[in-house]
Amino acid sequence: PRHLLGLADLGPDAIEQILETADAMRQVFDRPVKKFPTLRGRVVVNLFYEPSTRTRTSFELAAKALSADVVNVAVAQSSVVKGESLVDTARTYQALGTDYLVVRHASAGVPHLLARTVQVRVLNAGDGAHEHPTQGLLDLYTIRRRKGRISGLNVLIVGDVLHSRVARSDIWGLRKLGAHVAVAGPSTLMPVGLETLGVRRFDRLDEALEWAEVINVLRIQRERMQRGYLPSLREYRLRWGLTDERLRRLPEDVLIMHPGPANVGVEIDEAVLVDGRSAVAEQVTNGVAVRMAVLYLMAGREGEAG
Ligand code: CP
Repeated sequence: PRHLLGLADLGPDAIEQILETADAMRQVFDRPVKKFPTLRGRVVVNLFYEPSTRTRTSFELAAKALSADVVNVAVAQSSVVKGESLVDTARTYQALGTDYLVVRHASAGVPHLLARTVQVRVLNAGDGAHEHPTQGLLDLYTIRRRKGRISGLNVLIVGDVLHSRVARSDIWGLRKLGAHVAVAGPSTLMPVGLETLGVRRFDRLDEALEWAEVINVLRIQRERMQRGYLPSLREYRLRWGLTDERLRRLPEDVLIMHPGPANVGVEIDEAVLVDGRSAVAEQVTNGVAVRMAVLYLMAGREGEAG
């Protein structure tokens, strides 16, 4: 596709193609020179209006591994603070020769607006509580590498589903590839209408953990809760946290994930993060290969020479 806006827009074949291409992209890390020439002469701009560690850095590493030139916009030092609009900012980067605009924004729909407005390829790096498609893809990729399949697996998403763009992209991707998906968390942090996506809901975490083969723990997004429900963190951990004590009751072959950054000691304990059943570090590593795959495939025929 010309843009990557969300997994709701992608069919199962397109998702499979990205996961297979990510496998090929991993080979770059075994090479003496860790670069493919595919995007030589192309410009990738990272335009992040919200903080990021993993997504911004891995897009930068992915673009550099494909030999692109990368610009990281420091929004707080840009003309955005003088009042330049989002669309005018994007037009400015188009005029500067941008080929790919990677955008993160607190408002849902911003990447879609830019895709309609500017003549560059737009990649959604997280828009409000809507979608985070490359996180969804790296989660699918990680599950398939660790469990050997996605179809038929029981995947549990725990916590603040309401504010989570990761949960939305994961649900779209997992359902399209045939996984069974369930959620568990406080009723105040559950969106309405999940059942229309074929998602089951558990009212008790311990019952859900008995069902799950993969557990994806979400961050409580306190920065998005000013007007809503802010649980007591101690109570949250006791009822919905993946604690050391709960970890000891989980089977040896369970897979534990968290998109990061984590509120350690609230939704997940330190002992869980470093346990052998956790793929949290691997998720971050896989993010580079998956983002390389997406950039490569979006280059289309122009990228074939590389
Ligand atoms: N998972 C994720 O999007 O992390 P960052 O906010 O650090 O990019």
